Amino acid sequence: MILAPSILAADFLHLADACAMVNDSEADWFHLDVMDGVFVPNISYGMFIIQQLRKAGKKFFDAHLMIVRPEKFTEAFREAGVDQLTVHLEACPNLHRNLQHIKSLGMKAGVAINPHSPVSLLQDIIRDVDVVNVMSVNPGFGAQSFIPYSLDKIRELKKLIVESGSPALIEVDGGVSLENAAVILGAGADVLVAGNAVFSSADPKETIRQFKKTRPAS
Ligand code: DX5
Ligand code: ZN
Repeated sequence: MILAPSILAADFLHLADACAMVNDSEADWFHLDVMDGVFVPNISYGMFIIQQLRKAGKKFFDAHLMIVRPEKFTEAFREAGVDQLTVHLEACPNLHRNLQHIKSLGMKAGVAINPHSPVSLLQDIIRDVDVVNVMSVNPGFGAQSFIPYSLDKIRELKKLIVESGSPALIEVDGGVSLENAAVILGAGADVLVAGNAVFSSADPKETIRQFKKTRPAS
């Protein structure tokens, strides 16, 4: 499994330390949450901060855009050093075009779905995505509780991916903890995003190690 600590939960007065911790840990990706105050009821940070983080972060940069009109900023995020750009299904009337554009710039392309969006909406696009981010909370804030029916969505998505022959990974984002990680992996997740669970723990590096040791519950 791939573990992606979410920098949103880090101490923003010490971002270099957060990057060093993730670099030195068993974590795989940096998860970077971009919020615009329009698509979601909160504002986080944008390409300028990601560009700064890129100087210190040595692993894969997974950016999750919770913004309207994400296509306006595709080049800017590439230039900031993003490796994988995920846009929201709900924010993209021209999703296929957006994903092709992301890929044409050499990034992996992801699509995220809010808790209310059915997996079936991905049926025609699933072969064109590198990752599907299944939001297991309503996007906008860290440290919320995992919505239990997300597990059914992960199972349904896994089935769609297998049946369509899609290479897409399943990423689960929101309320992921050491307590529910095994069940989420058992439902079919490949990537776990963890913000609060990592950065609010007494020993983040050890917490990451525990996540990486977690095996799927059957
Ligand atoms: C929520 C973000 C998440 C968030 C996860 O809108 O997309 O990535 O940072 O944080 P936790 O793990 O604390 O729920
Ligand atoms: Zn996220």
